Amino acid sequence: MSMLRSLFIYLSRQRWLRDAALRVEFARQASHRFVAGETAEQAIQAIQQLNRQNILATVDHLGEDVFTEADARQARDDYLSVLGQIQTSGVKSHVSLKLTQFGLDVDEGLCRELVDSVIDRAAQLDTFVRIDMEGSPHTERTLAVYRDVRKKHTNVGIVLQAYLYRTVDDVRKLVDEGLANIRLCKGAYQELSTIAFPRKADVDANMVKLAQYLLSNTYAYLAMASHDEKMIEATLKWASRYRLPKDCFEFQMLYGIRRDLQQKLAAQGYRMRVYVPYGAEWYPYFMRRLAERPANVWFILRNLLRP
Ligand code: FDA
Repeated sequence: MSMLRSLFIYLSRQRWLRDAALRVEFARQASHRFVAGETAEQAIQAIQQLNRQNILATVDHLGEDVFTEADARQARDDYLSVLGQIQTSGVKSHVSLKLTQFGLDVDEGLCRELVDSVIDRAAQLDTFVRIDMEGSPHTERTLAVYRDVRKKHTNVGIVLQAYLYRTVDDVRKLVDEGLANIRLCKGAYQELSTIAFPRKADVDANMVKLAQYLLSNTYAYLAMASHDEKMIEATLKWASRYRLPKDCFEFQMLYGIRRDLQQKLAAQGYRMRVYVPYGAEWYPYFMRRLAERPANVWFILRNLLRP
């Protein structure tokens, strides 16, 4: 892992820096490269624009690492509210959420109860909830909550990260249990080489292997979350080998990243979904995007300093 990537991931977890960044207009402006805005209305507008290009969305009300019950309940209320706005505006969008935002580190039972009520509401509105995957201290508990909520609901899926050694087993188990509605991504957190592939080439190879396995399995659904053209080509290759119709899998990308590729795949008739984050808690999300591509720092500076 490059030094810069490690540095940005380290900085993403520093609360003092987050508090400072949130007060600086310059930083807020920069975050707009990857974040649709601070309000649900701005997120809905961004989704309307995507929908006009035949691109679907999954909306994320930014937030993570909540440490009080009140904040966790607030997260639930915010999601219920954005689900209401999805319904009234008629946009084509799911929601994505993080369990630490729903109090996973406060009380696991409370977290399950709150997430369950969001999935319930989403089911009434005929939409879907994707549970994001966070750093490895949360992997096991996130999977446990997912298995639990899947007992009651089918409109929920999980995220797995190709950089973890354990993911191959997690994928196999979820397929065997009939629970494999999986967004597959490379992984955005800092992990030790004892549990995650340190080399990008190995992460990429694992991602292709996992994608092939999921595509080969009739009862699995793959949401391939990557901007990497090699990953997209591999997905298309295996989908074509297995003669899968275009609606049997989907591509996912992040808001503001590789818009050209998003539009191209949508225009070719593939299911393309964009992750649209919004809210005031943009700092850690923004820093992880810088970690993925430190060149973004210069891109942002250039644009902000342009007369
Ligand atoms: P890679 O990093 O190899 O990048 C390939 C190319 O994509 C780059 O060369 C560049 O062109 C472009 N690119 C990638 N990142 C960029 C950036 N930040 N800015 C500009 N260009 C960029 N992770 C996680 O741990 N848990 C999760 O729940 C999720 N959820 C999630 C949802 C969706 C829809 C996506 C697309 C991604 C995630 N991720 C995630 C993040 C994921 O793990 C990973 O960090 C990023 O997607 C970057 O990896 P790529 O697969 O794009 O490849």
